[in-house]
Amino acid sequence: MGVLDKLKLNDGKDYDNFSEENTFLKNTITYLRAEVDKFKLAPLVVCDVKRIIENKAIIKLPNGNHFFVNIGKGVEIKVGDVVLAEQRSLTIVERLDDSLGYDVDSFLIIEKPNVSWSDVGGLEEQIRELTEVIELPLKRPDLFKKLGIEPPKGVLLYGLPGTGKTLLAKAIATSTNATFIEIVASELVQKYIGEGARLVRNIFELARKKAPCIIFIDEIDALAAGRIDVGVSGEREVQRTFMQLLTEIDGFNSLGDVRIIAATNRFDILDPAVLRPGRFDRLVEVELPTKAGRRQIFNIYMKNMNLDGLDLDVLLERTDGFTGADIKAICTEAGYFAIRDNREFIRTEDFLNAIVKLNYNMEYEDNLAGIYG
Ligand SMILES: Nc1ncnc2c1ncn2[C@@H]1O[C@H](COP(=O)(O)OP(=O)(O)OP(=O)(O)O)[C@@H](O)[C@H]1O
Ligand SMILES: [Mg+2]
Repeated sequence: MGVLDKLKLNDGKDYDNFSEENTFLKNTITYLRAEVDKFKLAPLVVCDVKRIIENKAIIKLPNGNHFFVNIGKGVEIKVGDVVLAEQRSLTIVERLDDSLGYDVDSFLIIEKPNVSWSDVGGLEEQIRELTEVIELPLKRPDLFKKLGIEPPKGVLLYGLPGTGKTLLAKAIATSTNATFIEIVASELVQKYIGEGARLVRNIFELARKKAPCIIFIDEIDALAAGRIDVGVSGEREVQRTFMQLLTEIDGFNSLGDVRIIAATNRFDILDPAVLRPGRFDRLVEVELPTKAGRRQIFNIYMKNMNLDGLDLDVLLERTDGFTGADIKAICTEAGYFAIRDNREFIRTEDFLNAIVKLNYNMEYEDNLAGIYG
């Protein structure tokens, strides 16, 4: 629909006589002029305020250059603010609200997750560890003070993809009613070149504001892979971001309301600096589910399924070595087999077909990895 139609619809009239049509066209011109003017406005530059000297300021541009600039009339700023500056003169024209959350929010996932312990199958030992290290210090700091011990600052969850690491982190955040800040380390590294270290600092500051809070650093290996060669500039940048992370972890009080959980499926390549005492000194391996674990996971995903004469034991026999994510996929796939067969209930054979299909896909991927890897 064109602009003209839109304007017509908007005022809901029929322009059937000449003078009304005239008015309508005039309005249209005014509207379009305003639109054109909008395009003429140059975009504003987002910068950091480094120093304020009387009524001028030193700002840092995203490219790292510093400028000594004027502050626009009536704009109140302080050092550390994120502000908008006019492109040509770099005069500061506006202070961004909640400058802290501004760039941090754009790649962070901040939420109050809603995953209960009953959504997690098996993993009893891992749940117990997380409860001790994350939940207890948040809920009963007095216990630790009385005993005179400091709880570990961070937990590192490691294990194969799809074993439930992210799920566990969300469940612990739910049970402590904590805000959950999720950082995907590989994104931090790829998307925010040159900004990584500053973002890490902001994230921790944000976490303190939103406490009680759990910072979840997923794929921490992207930041913390032990490296031989730090000569390349990209690598140096990752290194700087990583150093900032360690500084933040070292700097905060382990009895505060901020806890850190990191996850990786590449434990083998982690820089030992991450694992030093006082950092991620509690390592929790998230293992493949046992038979009992698989039973629980199947039960979780079958809860709402319409089943007919199911033989769960057969499925458990056939799924040795499968992850929680695999089992979830099998349940969905079994449903599809029933749909294709025009049935409203799902049978054991649907699950078996799903297992065969998944197995086939996994072998196929392994073969590909063999050819290309
Ligand atoms: N033990 C489990 N109980 C119930 N569901 C599970 C379990 N393990 C995994 N799942 C399901 O499998 C999916 C993937 O799990 P999750 O994202 O937690 O894996 P992950 O270990 O974080 O994997 P990755 O290393 O790839 O990030 C989720 O939808 C989750 O619900
Ligand atoms: Mg995950």
